[in-house]
Amino acid sequence: MMSNTSNTINTILKNPHNGNSFELKSPLLCASGTFGYADEYEGLVDFNELGAIVTKGITLEKRPGNAGERIFECDFGLINRIGLENIGINDFINEKLPILKQKNINFILNIAGSTLEDYEKLSYIANENDIKALEVNVSCPNVKHGCLEFGLKPDLLFELVKKIRANYKGFLIVKLSPNTTDIKPLAQSAQSAGADCISAINTIRALGVKVNFENNKFNKKFVQGGLSGACIKPISLYMISQIKQVVVIPVIALGGIYNLNDLFEYISVGADAFQVGTANFLYPSIASDLAKALKDFMMKNGFSCFEELKKEILNG
Ligand SMILES: Cc1cc2nc3c(=O)[nH]c(=O)nc-3n(C[C@H](O)[C@H](O)[C@H](O)COP(=O)(O)O)c2cc1C
Repeated sequence: MMSNTSNTINTILKNPHNGNSFELKSPLLCASGTFGYADEYEGLVDFNELGAIVTKGITLEKRPGNAGERIFECDFGLINRIGLENIGINDFINEKLPILKQKNINFILNIAGSTLEDYEKLSYIANENDIKALEVNVSCPNVKHGCLEFGLKPDLLFELVKKIRANYKGFLIVKLSPNTTDIKPLAQSAQSAGADCISAINTIRALGVKVNFENNKFNKKFVQGGLSGACIKPISLYMISQIKQVVVIPVIALGGIYNLNDLFEYISVGADAFQVGTANFLYPSIASDLAKALKDFMMKNGFSCFEELKKEILNG
């Protein structure tokens, strides 16, 4: 361990194949779908401490999302079936992008589609608008068509990422699904098709069930959707350890991040940065609080940079 000079947590995600990189002033990011388009969190979080925010998944057209109950709280987690409600790419470009730019908020645009052509068009628009980083959601379990279909078949994923890569010159992140028996071929496909980075994991298909006995009869409720929160962390740790066996591009961890130890655990399996998701709903300032806590820890324990901390955890 080196003696402390400063306590910077700057980090650069870099694709060693092509040199594409994305600079973050902190490895703490806010995950798609749990942070809106950032402006909703103004005053609740210290944006100066965040590496970036990831927008809600954006599709070509506006989507109203699913009807009915969309959120089900379960032990140590949350099941959601939002169904990709979003404002669509045009409103994002016209209304939200100027706010993000004006407030100087580093962001990653998360995109989702039903067809290859949707993703092609979205990546073209992102490129035209000089959006620095794109996260491709091929892992949403809550929509009827597309999205997850691309994320579970290595050949299809390769074709999709290749097409996006041809259109989009910025930093390209592919967000993988845990709803598979083997995530390695998917990670390999994403990398060989030109992804600069992988983020993992999206939510896990799950069924929330509640049964009450009232007025002499059983009342049942079923909510099928994607599971997130503390209960998915061990699954994500496993998935990331698998992904790291087959790729050299950086990996951003998601899944049940609540405290400093969660960050250390993810670093120990090879994560390069972190996205905080469900925890934002309970503690809106958690991502920036964690960035501060990470800096404090590093200063107290003599780590001069995040890279050094990562090496110590990985080799220690
Ligand atoms: C309510 C909700 C909405 C989400 N919407 C999206 C989305 O639009 N696009 C996406 O890629 N992931 C979406 N996610 C998945 C999260 O970004 C994240 O991958 C997942 O929740 C795991 O992290 P966590 O355990 O910290 O929440 C959503 C998650 C939740 C809980």
